[in-house]
Amino acid sequence: MKFFIDTANLAEIKEANDLGVLDGVTTNPSLMAKEGISGQENILNHYRAICEIVDGPISAEVISTDFEGMIKEGEALADLHPNIVVKVPMIKDGIKAIKYFTQKGIKTNCTLVFSAGQALLAAKAGATYVSPFIGRLDDISFDGLDLIEQIRLIFDNYGFETQILAASVRHPIHIIKCAEIGSDVMTGPLSAILALLKHPLTDSGLEKFLADYKKVNG
Ligand code: E4P
Repeated sequence: MKFFIDTANLAEIKEANDLGVLDGVTTNPSLMAKEGISGQENILNHYRAICEIVDGPISAEVISTDFEGMIKEGEALADLHPNIVVKVPMIKDGIKAIKYFTQKGIKTNCTLVFSAGQALLAAKAGATYVSPFIGRLDDISFDGLDLIEQIRLIFDNYGFETQILAASVRHPIHIIKCAEIGSDVMTGPLSAILALLKHPLTDSGLEKFLADYKKVNG
């Protein structure tokens, strides 16, 4: 399973990339705002900066909600760097835009997916990635991981090449369960990725190894 980091914070992106296990980055307008990135030129420069850190797919989201606007914005984003993936919302014009981008050879990530039907439509339009939001479903008492299983089954039934990008990941159990189900990608915060490192027996075991070494070596 590929690991993407879900942030626009350059320091966190660098830290995850330095770990050597990062495959890509996803951003969204909220994450860009959280970093205080505003204005068209600053936004484009920020995407350029991310592309310089990570050599992998970088999702950059359009703001327009009409077909023409999404095409204009998406083409400008795609021109920034060959690794840019145009992130398009799951709405009617978004599906049309995904079809258009696919025919042009521009990679897409269909975002804000909360049902299997939405994922099926995005796959039929040729989306490179489909992003079901696990955490936000959990928040309203629907099991987000059930959706990942459902989409996996449907995509496998028909051999869709669209990759399942499990999004809105909140903690390490989400990551492990996504890997068990066979999600192609997960995108989550640095904290969830780093939490995979932790086990109390690793900590106590290492402490004992180092103490025993010190006893005989000083
Ligand atoms: C997906 O690409 C989104 O950026 C993201 O995963 C949303 O996560 P959140 O629900 O934690 O905001």
